[in-house]
Amino acid sequence: MIPAMNVTRQYASIQDQLDKAALDVLHEGQYILGKTVEEFEKAFASYCGVQYAVGVGNGSDALVMALKACGIKAGDEVITTAMSFSATAEAITSVGAIPVFADCTKNTYCIDPRDIREKITQKSKAIIPVHLYGQCADMDEINRIADEYNLKVVEDCAQAAGATYKGRKAGSLGDVGCVSFFPTKNLGCAGDGGIIITNDESVYRQCRALRAHGSGLDGLYTYGIQNGIEISEDSVDFNGNLPKYFNFVTGYNSRLDALQAALLQVKLPYLDRWNERRREIAKQYDEKITNPVINKPLVAKDNTHIYYVYAITTDQRDELRAYLKRNDISSGVYFPVPFHLQVVYQNLGYKKGDMPNAEFVATHSLVLPMFPELTQQEIDQIIEVVNSWNP
Ligand SMILES: Cc1ncc(COP(=O)(O)O)c(C=O)c1O
Repeated sequence: MIPAMNVTRQYASIQDQLDKAALDVLHEGQYILGKTVEEFEKAFASYCGVQYAVGVGNGSDALVMALKACGIKAGDEVITTAMSFSATAEAITSVGAIPVFADCTKNTYCIDPRDIREKITQKSKAIIPVHLYGQCADMDEINRIADEYNLKVVEDCAQAAGATYKGRKAGSLGDVGCVSFFPTKNLGCAGDGGIIITNDESVYRQCRALRAHGSGLDGLYTYGIQNGIEISEDSVDFNGNLPKYFNFVTGYNSRLDALQAALLQVKLPYLDRWNERRREIAKQYDEKITNPVINKPLVAKDNTHIYYVYAITTDQRDELRAYLKRNDISSGVYFPVPFHLQVVYQNLGYKKGDMPNAEFVATHSLVLPMFPELTQQEIDQIIEVVNSWNP
């Protein structure tokens, strides 16, 4: 069976370096935060062309903390796409805010800025564009809307580490970017991991506090922000105790482990070449899949798509999926139910037909195998089988 995604081939390709990095951390004994995490944070911030990075437990927590650091609170409305992974909408409800869904475009699958405009109300406070499948949303238009209505822009880059828009990296385009290092992501660790990136020092300091129980000097700073008061760092006498045992705001326990940071530090220099390989595979799919019932993904102007997945659409999607399986090819559906039709959001009052494009993607799209270590023989086989499908 050709897998849709695979992590062990990548491990095998750089096993010596990864093993050494992991063992070094085990020997050093600094497992939570510390030098290894700081070094990776600096390297990743520099790779993305931003000033600050905060390593956190996963991409889902990154979104929650980023929203909090942007001042999003109970009763605020946050506009996001109807087509994404659960974590995007869940982050909004986790901070007590109300998710407002906008449709995606039919060809890029990313949020449609025209529908964002339709959804703005007095309560709108932020937009979460999701750079879905590895391609950035229409960020110029989204930033224009955000400026017009004074909204924060939190980029969900979970699927887009290394993607670019007008030459700038995903995550550096809005107020704050949130990345996931889930193992199958373009830059994946060996467990859960994530990072928040920003050029905003205040967001940076607040996220550092939030990932560690709202404690320490960053927690004190965050207390000042949350209460609208200016606070000097000398205003608390820690009496010789560790500042981390002084809690100023409610935070989380969500930090990037040193082990994960060490593995990610080894992998980061390979990211561009792995992404390039994904693009080469996508090019072959683009050029050699000639079956007329298959629609191939569109790359919008100014984007470097890094193909976290290669998503096609077709009328009889489930039949194609079964056909591929019978021919030893795995595929996937990302995602079968758009947010506005999920049970968890039924209280928001949406109904079938409200987001025609998201509903189309949910029922018509299928992702073909995509990871840098696919062999040419496997690629040829996938193309041949897809072309031979005659519904
Ligand atoms: C679009 C999107 N947002 C957020 C997340 C959450 O990331 P994590 O699994 O690291 O919590 C994911 C993970 O798959 C995702 O695809």
